[in-house]
Amino acid sequence: MSKGYAVITGASSGIGAEFSKRIAKEGYRLVLVARRRERLEQLAQELDTECMILIADLSDVDECKRIMNELNSIDIDVFINNAGFGYCGETLTIENETELNMIDLNVKAMHLLTKLVLDKMIDKNAGYVLNVASSAGLLPAGPYMSAYYATKAYVTSYTQGVAEELRRKHSNVYIGCLCPGPVDTEFNKVANVEFALKGISSSYCANYAITQMFKKKITIVPTFKMKALVFFARFLPTKLYIKIAAKQQRKKIYK
Ligand SMILES: NC(=O)c1ccc[n+]([C@@H]2O[C@H](COP(=O)([O-])OP(=O)(O)OC[C@H]3O[C@@H](n4cnc5c(N)ncnc54)[C@H](OP(=O)(O)O)[C@@H]3O)[C@@H](O)[C@H]2O)c1
Repeated sequence: MSKGYAVITGASSGIGAEFSKRIAKEGYRLVLVARRRERLEQLAQELDTECMILIADLSDVDECKRIMNELNSIDIDVFINNAGFGYCGETLTIENETELNMIDLNVKAMHLLTKLVLDKMIDKNAGYVLNVASSAGLLPAGPYMSAYYATKAYVTSYTQGVAEELRRKHSNVYIGCLCPGPVDTEFNKVANVEFALKGISSSYCANYAITQMFKKKITIVPTFKMKALVFFARFLPTKLYIKIAAKQQRKKIYK
């Protein structure tokens, strides 16, 4: 017998597409959400499970509400807030529209969709919500990607806070955040950046995350290197860490 539904936002490429493949193998029916229909249709054909496709621009609050209304009658067991993007450059050179759009998607959509789905899951005392943050969200700041780092800090802080609220209610509902370092996806092209560190594959990232999600780990960091960086960053004075980060990040825009 097939399980309930898993909703994956940003399923049309990268980590989201790999989440879809792994979750399909777990026996869930899928709801694939993104803006590019052809990509989602192609992915759905490859998956050996029932797939529903929802086209939405999640940077628009009304679109977030619309998709949740459309999903009102189905039983959502897993919800992965994965859609997101970054942008690299000196803050004043980045169009306001780009950054506000990023805040709308990475912060507002994630926040709203989390609340709407948690409301359903808390009623049935079951379900998994995974918010895709970044290791950026566990570090003090990221000059030259300042807005992106700030959006991901919101995701980790919000998720960890809500997880503690659920724990104190003895709820079975899980919420956690995925905090990877560089992953080879379309992210770089969109963000106008090249990573200094070699990226991991999106399939490794997604598979690791899903295994940890089912173990109910709240903060998921896929590689030893990033775990070590996040750990040691805590022992540096914040000002010094940010200065070092700025030097590294600056190399990416002034190659
Ligand atoms: N790659 C990395 O190094 C890395 C590291 C840490 C965290 N992350 C996070 O991982 C998540 C997935 O990114 P990725 O690396 O897999 O990049 P990606 O390949 O560029 O995928 C981004 C996904 O988000 C969707 N998306 C973008 N804007 C959207 C919008 N307005 N409405 C609906 N969907 C939208 C895209 O679909 P459409 O364009 O079809 O809408 C696409 O499916 C993001 O939250 C990112 O911040 C990535």
